[in-house]
Amino acid sequence: MLFRGWGESVDWRWPDVAVVADHVGVDHVVVTRHALVRQVLADPVTWRPDNALDAVTPVPVAALRVLAGHRFRLPPTLANNSSASHPGIRALVAEALHPDRVAAQQPWLTALVRRRVVRLAAALDAGEPVDLYAVLAADLPLLVLARLIELPDAPVDAVKDFARAALELFWAPLDADRQLALAAEVGRFHTVLREFAATGGGLAAALRADGHSPDVVVGALFFLLVAGQETTSQFLTLLLHRLTAEPEVRAGLRAGTVAVADVVEEGLRLEPPIVTWRRVAAVDATLGGTAVPAGTSVVLWLARAGRDPELVPEPTRFRPGQRGSRRHLAFGAGTHRCVGAQLARMEAAVVVAEAAPLLDGVTVVRPPWCPDNLTFRMPDAFVVRRR
Ligand code: HEM
Repeated sequence: MLFRGWGESVDWRWPDVAVVADHVGVDHVVVTRHALVRQVLADPVTWRPDNALDAVTPVPVAALRVLAGHRFRLPPTLANNSSASHPGIRALVAEALHPDRVAAQQPWLTALVRRRVVRLAAALDAGEPVDLYAVLAADLPLLVLARLIELPDAPVDAVKDFARAALELFWAPLDADRQLALAAEVGRFHTVLREFAATGGGLAAALRADGHSPDVVVGALFFLLVAGQETTSQFLTLLLHRLTAEPEVRAGLRAGTVAVADVVEEGLRLEPPIVTWRRVAAVDATLGGTAVPAGTSVVLWLARAGRDPELVPEPTRFRPGQRGSRRHLAFGAGTHRCVGAQLARMEAAVVVAEAAPLLDGVTVVRPPWCPDNLTFRMPDAFVVRRR
């Protein structure tokens, strides 16, 4: 289960708390119930976020050397930061992603998505297969993020390659050769980021002006370039795929009886792009009756928590607006709750509103394939064609 926290495994019977050994023999305490996951997220003193970005496959010396050659450093900044600097860094990021600034991007994004939907509709009408991941989901979140944090003409392909390499390097079961290749990719982009952190405007300039060291500015940008776009790309792909199998929901959207925002929330509950998130026990503690020694990795199974029968009346059905639907933990909770939630919701709402009609009458030629990964779904493609 540890590296495939979706699909069948997410619906199997599980104890509330399970101890599961990973591929290198390290035990993780896996938390499956909504109330317990929430309890952990709400207590960052007992359950610290420090291990959020730890590599699940220990990085060997050869790959560490490659990273060091690029002066790669990842000091605690956001998700893995339990130090006193967290609130200040978070506040600057939250300012850049302020709901008013997010709302201001909506017309631009809608126009862009509409243009793409017109092209996609023409291709589908002509009987051609189209890849909704590549054409619709892959780059949109990055393009919006670049406008919000003022990235210079973001080289889209380079950022996507780097971000996916980082997700694999930190969260996938890997062999040493692959780690070496990924370290080279991540290190290369880190060098680009260091230059931008030193000279860039927008968020980079705000972090510098607040007195943060170059390493912290790089670390914050590094995290945002991964968390702030790859997550949403993955979610858009998974949600569109799910909607192809939900004709009643699409009919409701068409008729105006189902709200787009409710579809997005139910999507986050059932198809979260981040299936687990980690904390580490700061002290000897107990969770759901299980003893958790200090230093133990705690894997919060967010995807499973979204299907908890105590959360919603119909846990496995896609029922937009059902009671409890919005209480999913796809964005985490507490002091580290996702700062980009509003942005992700806006982007998903635009894509659902504009692109859901494309799904009428299509067949899935190639469903998204997801590699083994502790935390991220990372769908690679989603090809459909009109029957
Ligand atoms: C569907 C898309 C997304 C999902 C499912 C998601 C999920 C998450 C989760 C699970 C966490 C950890 C929360 C915790 O520890 O309690 C997190 C943290 C974070 N996310 Fe997101 N995220 C998404 C999109 C975004 C976007 C678009 C941005 C920014 C542009 C973003 C920025 C962040 C940041 C900065 C943090 C760290 C917050 C902190 O530690 O203070 N995320 N996200």
